[in-house]
Amino acid sequence: MAIKVNGSDVSVPDDPRVSLLDLLRETLHLSGTKKGCNQGACGACTVLVDGERILSCLALAVQYDGRAVTSVEGLAQGGELHPLQTAFVEHDGFQCGYCTPGQLCSAVGMAAELKRGMPSLVTADLAADTVPISRVEFQERMSGNLCRCGAHNGIMDAISEIYGDLTEVAE
Ligand code: FES
Repeated sequence: MAIKVNGSDVSVPDDPRVSLLDLLRETLHLSGTKKGCNQGACGACTVLVDGERILSCLALAVQYDGRAVTSVEGLAQGGELHPLQTAFVEHDGFQCGYCTPGQLCSAVGMAAELKRGMPSLVTADLAADTVPISRVEFQERMSGNLCRCGAHNGIMDAISEIYGDLTEVAE
């Protein structure tokens, strides 16, 4: 039994009570993924599983046997930051930085949801194949990731720069 974490196979823990968050942080020492509330309310622990964003504090590691997990450490490729990481730097999308890994992973997953045409609470036409992009859409879709500093506008600016035109986003 193995989980692929950032491209490497790791053993599924024997203890079925271990959360995916604790596997990442305590066993694999991938401390980029943060433990905030540990109860699904803050988004600091967001990672991607097969490209979809999940809250790793609410996920048991054993559930992810055979799945591909990407944490913030896996976003950069070939020594190059993910474009969204660069945009966060350029737009001051963080202050203390605690929520940043979750914001980044969540935004990557959010863009994939948008590209698939998945509507949100603020989408006017639920039947439309394409969801019109707007700052309000981004704000609604990122509302599960809390920033307690003052970086909200910078985060939205960074996301808007990178995902404002989804035709530019890879599948
Ligand atoms: Fe998982 Fe807060 S630590 S949502």
